[in-house]
Amino acid sequence: MNQSVDFQDFIDEVIQKNDIVDLISRYVTLKRVGNRFQALCPLHNDKKTPSFSVSPDKQLFHCFGCGAGGTVIHFIMAKENLDFMEAVKLLAERAGVPVPDQRSAAEKNRAAQIHEKKKRMYAMNAEAARFFFNNLIATENKKALDYLKNRKLSNATIKNFGLGYAPDSWSTLIDYMKEKGYSEEELAEAGLAVKRENGTFFDKFRDRVMFPIIDLRGNVIAFGGRIISDKENAPKYLNSPETLVFKKKENLFAMNIAKNSKEGQFLLMEGYMDVISLHQNGFDNAVASLGTAFTPQQADLLKRYADKAVLCYDSDEAGQKATQRAGEILREAEIKTKVLKLNEGKDPDEYIKLKGPEMFRFSLDNAESFIEYKIHSIEKKYNLEDTVEKIEFIEQIAKVFANIKNDVEREVYIKKIARETDVSPDNINVRVREIARKSQKIEASRELSREKRQFEERTGGRSDLEKMKLYNAEKLLLNLICEKDVFKAVGNQLSPADFSEGLHRRLAEIIFETLGKGEKINPAAVISLFESSELGLVSEILSDDKNVDNRLEAVKMPLRIVLEHKRKIADEASVQGGDAAKLQEIMDRLKKEKK
Ligand code: CTP
Ligand code: MN
Repeated sequence: MNQSVDFQDFIDEVIQKNDIVDLISRYVTLKRVGNRFQALCPLHNDKKTPSFSVSPDKQLFHCFGCGAGGTVIHFIMAKENLDFMEAVKLLAERAGVPVPDQRSAAEKNRAAQIHEKKKRMYAMNAEAARFFFNNLIATENKKALDYLKNRKLSNATIKNFGLGYAPDSWSTLIDYMKEKGYSEEELAEAGLAVKRENGTFFDKFRDRVMFPIIDLRGNVIAFGGRIISDKENAPKYLNSPETLVFKKKENLFAMNIAKNSKEGQFLLMEGYMDVISLHQNGFDNAVASLGTAFTPQQADLLKRYADKAVLCYDSDEAGQKATQRAGEILREAEIKTKVLKLNEGKDPDEYIKLKGPEMFRFSLDNAESFIEYKIHSIEKKYNLEDTVEKIEFIEQIAKVFANIKNDVEREVYIKKIARETDVSPDNINVRVREIARKSQKIEASRELSREKRQFEERTGGRSDLEKMKLYNAEKLLLNLICEKDVFKAVGNQLSPADFSEGLHRRLAEIIFETLGKGEKINPAAVISLFESSELGLVSEILSDDKNVDNRLEAVKMPLRIVLEHKRKIADEASVQGGDAAKLQEIMDRLKKEKK
């Protein structure tokens, strides 16, 4: 890329006009901690400790868990899975900054090709959806429409969801689409056709009712197909494979509609039919994951529109297991979650047919919280009349409580269980705290080994305590001297060459040069001088996550470590110059230090 001055100005403007706190809080809830913000990292599966940090002053983010970091641009790249220019463009559009076109001809070509391919795939899917719909209402395929009518779907619902029918044939779709100018190869890439070993193609969906899956912008990105006649060995549902435009982990069925709901919460279901039936009954906030378990990415997607959800999974064992897993994922995403109990019917579709929409709403309003659901499902397993089982019950419950972050919420539940078991709340609380502490310890030891691993990856050397100490001291020192006052106080005792690690040295050079000229450090600009593989480290060093009150005080310790190392190196150098007495002295000192 031609990094001209104009282009750099453009990038700077994009960064400046997209406030990082504002942008990231669209994806996760940021909590203010001093002069920075904290969150569970939206870029990796962050469990308990909020390892993600955003600095409003520096307009940088950094995650201590996954090591990602950088400016708003890098965040969007990671989060939306975009390349640098795509991310910059998205942010430029968002902030209304005009985009200069700086790409090389080859790059333009490649990007245009992918863009073109995606566009064609959307058009192809839309065309296929139209084909399926027309087949559904064609008289010769009456059985498909009959099937949906039998399941009580109205014409309006069928139209709203764009349902369709794939005929019982190996090539009707292929023939139709070829007529429209699409090749078999393209159809296979879109997941609509399958290529045989001998190179010929056949329709993927045959004799199935078709459910188009539509993204947030209204593009048809995939299909689910339900079997309507008894066939040996045919799965009940068949779904599109992952394609250029379909990532099943990141989409939810009916989210294109539900995102506009006024309900303020989402209803999460297992099946396409459940969702459609609920929408027909006035619940426009129902969604389903796409033939796979609910994912953290899907939780993030929900979170962009509401922070409440009700799990309405099937009442069978599989549905209950899925409820447990989805509940944990929603809890991690800090979505307030309730669980709907279906005391009649196997799934929400049957339930609402039996009870009607008013009763359904009543059940939703009175649904228990996910924590209560967990407590009840544990309670079912133990006989509280039996002393041994009662103790085990409390142990299991304490594990659940140890995960509740909100103190008040935890206390309320502890008191409730205390009453039920006739064990004092204090004693239960002691156990809960023990468990919480233990899991914190495990987390901390994971943290340490993570730090070690990171060190070894970055330096290519084995980590020992001494090296880690120096390495971490250099990082802290670099962070602290970015501040003018600190630089003034200690800058004259140091030079960039005193940093032992290559990247640290380069960063120090930039800091010394900038502050030496009396200019201020602009972290977003500094970061743009590094390779993408170095971003994580640079953003970590520049981030505000250092928990220091007094920088002038805090700088003393890392400064001492770095200067001591410098002296040691100087000593060793003079030994190589042939001073035997000095050698003895150093050997002695090193021995002492080892102890
Ligand atoms: N599913 C799938 N493949 C299967 C079975 C199920 O992908 N072989 C997915 C579908 O997304 C389906 C969901 O899991 O919608 C739930 O399955 P099920 O309860 O069997 O589906 P329903 O939508 O309830 O279908 P129906 O009411 O028509 O039985
Ligand atoms: Mn079902």
